[in-house]
Amino acid sequence: METSNSEPIDSNITSGENKSYWTASTQPIVFEKLQQDTDTEVLIVGGGIAGLTTAYCLLKAGRKVILVEDGYIGSGETGRTTAHVTCALDDRYFELEKIFGKEKATLAANSHTAAIQWIANTIKHENIDCNFKRVPGYLFLSGSDKKETLEKEYAATKSAGLLTEMLEQVPGLEAEEGKWCIKFPEQGQFHIMKYLRGLADAIIGMGGKIYTETKAEDITKEGAKANGYDIKAKHIVVATNTPINDLVTMHTKQWPYRTYVIAAKVPKGKLPYSLWWDTGDHDSKWIAAPYHYVRLEEYDNQYDLLISGGEDHKTGQADDENIAEENRFDKLIEWTKKRFPAMQEVTYKWSGQVMEPIDSMAFIGKNPGNDNIYIITGDSGNGMTHGTIAGILLTDLILRRKNPWESLYDPSRIRLKALPEFVKENFNVAKQYADLLVAGDVDSIDEIKAGAGAIISRGLSKVACYRDPQGDIHERSAVCPHLGCIVNWNTSENTWDCPCHGSRFDAPGKVIQGPANSDLSEAKEADTSN
Ligand SMILES: Cc1cc2nc3c(=O)[nH]c(=O)nc-3n(C[C@H](O)[C@H](O)[C@H](O)COP(=O)(O)OP(=O)(O)OC[C@H]3O[C@@H](n4cnc5c(N)ncnc54)[C@H](O)[C@@H]3O)c2cc1C
Ligand code: FES
Repeated sequence: METSNSEPIDSNITSGENKSYWTASTQPIVFEKLQQDTDTEVLIVGGGIAGLTTAYCLLKAGRKVILVEDGYIGSGETGRTTAHVTCALDDRYFELEKIFGKEKATLAANSHTAAIQWIANTIKHENIDCNFKRVPGYLFLSGSDKKETLEKEYAATKSAGLLTEMLEQVPGLEAEEGKWCIKFPEQGQFHIMKYLRGLADAIIGMGGKIYTETKAEDITKEGAKANGYDIKAKHIVVATNTPINDLVTMHTKQWPYRTYVIAAKVPKGKLPYSLWWDTGDHDSKWIAAPYHYVRLEEYDNQYDLLISGGEDHKTGQADDENIAEENRFDKLIEWTKKRFPAMQEVTYKWSGQVMEPIDSMAFIGKNPGNDNIYIITGDSGNGMTHGTIAGILLTDLILRRKNPWESLYDPSRIRLKALPEFVKENFNVAKQYADLLVAGDVDSIDEIKAGAGAIISRGLSKVACYRDPQGDIHERSAVCPHLGCIVNWNTSENTWDCPCHGSRFDAPGKVIQGPANSDLSEAKEADTSN
């Protein structure tokens, strides 16, 4: 096993202790830290696919750009992706038709198809060596779903102008439910960190500036502070995956889910390079039905890697299904082996976080209430294309050019047809505040094993206690600095995860994922404040 579960977390490289295949197989992408005040036309906060693509597009259009990243390039969710590059969206096209109408469902299909083509063109133009391939994708029925779903989806994809086909068998897959599938031709896949390296090099080549280990704070319409220095900017793009510049508005329109990945060796030639997705577990308790997503990646002369993902749950709420985070990998291995018996040794395991938007589409555009601050968020499991769409769309908005996708992705949009999901997910968030009143996970710190964490009740306070591998205890307040929910211990990534809006903290309490933009406070402060 080539995971790094026993090493202390390096939050510059990754937002959890398990490294993905992508970050484990490449050198970290590092630039200098910001060390002086500066100014620019556009400041981009966040060095994932969304931030880098936006920087690239703006530089191509002749703008002056600075990008700041608080870790290294790709150290957020981009480095933990599975990098299917697809127009087969997580949420079905027939659902999009219901919420947005046929015209906008067609626009959605056009925008994702254009993003795949944009990626292919850019890789060619910049000569990026990142294993990019055009591959077919197959959407097949999960055990808990009915063929009617595929029929409705096939009709909706056709109506949206996609060149899909209905097949009687799923190429490469051995499973009882894999009898029918929709084929999406001309999808894509790549090695994401090699792609980011290519984009970063092109950005520098065009005169853009990238600073890593440079954390932006105090974002206003004048710019931001980063590492304590002022960056003045005419436009600010917040590409931090979940906005850190807004306390509430966007966080009632999207919800965080954890998702799990395993990578196993498969002898070369045993399986075709393809993307596979099932239609999701309709018996699941979660509103965003978890689905499985599988692909192949080149590994060495003898083997490919079969990369399989799924077993999602709402962040910080794994125990609500009585399946701890660490045990979800076993379920995933079992599911994958059954359908791809050619898989051999599992070499990597990791997990990551996706933001599920209320009405299925990402939020890309002006931050509600601001004229020169833009956000990119809510990209669910389609962040490769959504991040690319963001680059194209935000460049048009900043240059005041018309773009047909603007209203579809507008962060201020209101879709009343998505209201039931809004009520259910926000009820789930409200329920999490009850954790302030219930007992802790354990009665005494003596019960916490080395390398593990647990919540302890101390009077009216909740304390997040972590025992490091040397046996020393680290205590922080368990109250999330975003809006005050109680964090939970993540047993697979060794992090504290907030069940409300997905903020995450490393074991000693340092923030590694927003919307919180500060660390867990000292336990003593919690004792006195409660
Ligand atoms: C396991 C998994 C599998 C997935 N599979 C797919 C897939 O197959 N296909 C697909 O299309 N999508 C997939 N996704 C979704 C996709 O990977 C993400 O949506 C996408 O990578 C998000 O990119 P981003 O640039 O918006 O965010 P990120 O990559 O998270 O980048 C945001 C960056 O902002 C930085 N940052 C945060 N706060 C600050 C600050 N204050 N100052 C400076 N920098 C800051 C972070 O360090 C981070 O690097 C998957 C996601 C996961 C977790
Ligand atoms: S992320 Fe909002 S309260 Fe923790």
